[in-house]
Amino acid sequence: MNDLPFVLPTADRLQFRAPMSRERFTPLAAEIYALKKQLNAVILAHNYQVPEIQDVADYVGDSLGLAQQAEKTNADVIVFCGVHFMAETAKILNPGKIVVLPDANAGCSLEESCPAEKLEALQKTNPNFWTIAYINCSAAVKALCDVIVTSGNAEKIVKAAPKDKDLLFVPDENLGQWVMEKTGRPMTLWKGNCYAHVEFRRDAMLQTKARYPKAKVVVHPESLREVRDLADAVCSTEKMITYCKNDPAKQFVIVTESGIIHRMQKECPDKEFLCAPTFDVMKMPGDNCRCSECKFMKMNTLEKVRDCMKNLAPRVELPEHILKRARLPIERMLEISARS
Ligand code: 13P
Ligand code: SF4
Repeated sequence: MNDLPFVLPTADRLQFRAPMSRERFTPLAAEIYALKKQLNAVILAHNYQVPEIQDVADYVGDSLGLAQQAEKTNADVIVFCGVHFMAETAKILNPGKIVVLPDANAGCSLEESCPAEKLEALQKTNPNFWTIAYINCSAAVKALCDVIVTSGNAEKIVKAAPKDKDLLFVPDENLGQWVMEKTGRPMTLWKGNCYAHVEFRRDAMLQTKARYPKAKVVVHPESLREVRDLADAVCSTEKMITYCKNDPAKQFVIVTESGIIHRMQKECPDKEFLCAPTFDVMKMPGDNCRCSECKFMKMNTLEKVRDCMKNLAPRVELPEHILKRARLPIERMLEISARS
């Protein structure tokens, strides 16, 4: 195996083992805790956020968990540490509250791929379309849809879709393909993708599996089919963490954004997590730190979290009609998700 062209980056080498105690009590963290109390704020963070943000958050989770937390919070201010569409979802569920985010430019390639006008034009071509949108889209797109899904509930929601409708799934083609495989429901798929997840490729995965034959491979469904087909489990970021906790294996190759390793190591200290190599590692032998990072998720820093709380800006604001219309498909998602 020694002739392999790369060394798989381990979480240790990438310095994800930031001890919680150190991050929680820095002066900056203390400032954030004081602002939180003063504002009656809640800090919600996605699993891909940098460790120091995860460590000051009240809740860290996947898109579904974050939407559920946003729906039930009593806080006056929601500090959303993730990307823009996630903060918008929190605002749609809480039109009367202040929702701030550390960096207003934290977008998403999936959101970018699906402008509302283009979706509307496609919808007009078939009046029998029932539109299912992955939560990674703008509020304007949500307002055009029948139901929203996340990677954590897409299978359940598509199974519950009306049988007499033609399903249109936007904007992630890879997640859509995976849901079609799981449910057997044909769907028209929008051709969007996550620029970060499509960097994982079959050749690099095969080499990784050969090198670490005992490791379980856990893949996010935004990845290409050629990679999903090599997985022991395909699931949302939250379910990835649960899978690694419950599975008896001691070593896991994680095929998603590397920020998730922080929680995995905190919650499973006796297990080893390896960030899957991306295409770049294959092109640049010897460069072993090219794990996949989402440039949008990584725009947020602890300083920006403090600043958005101090300034109550950047703030999510949406037109009244979008707020109203986009709420329906999100509420439908939360209702179907809660069914046993
Ligand atoms: P999860 O809902 O699985 O956390 O995924 C969000 C996301 O943006 C993945 O790239
Ligand atoms: Fe969007 Fe991909 Fe980043 Fe997730 S990882 S926020 S899908 S660009």
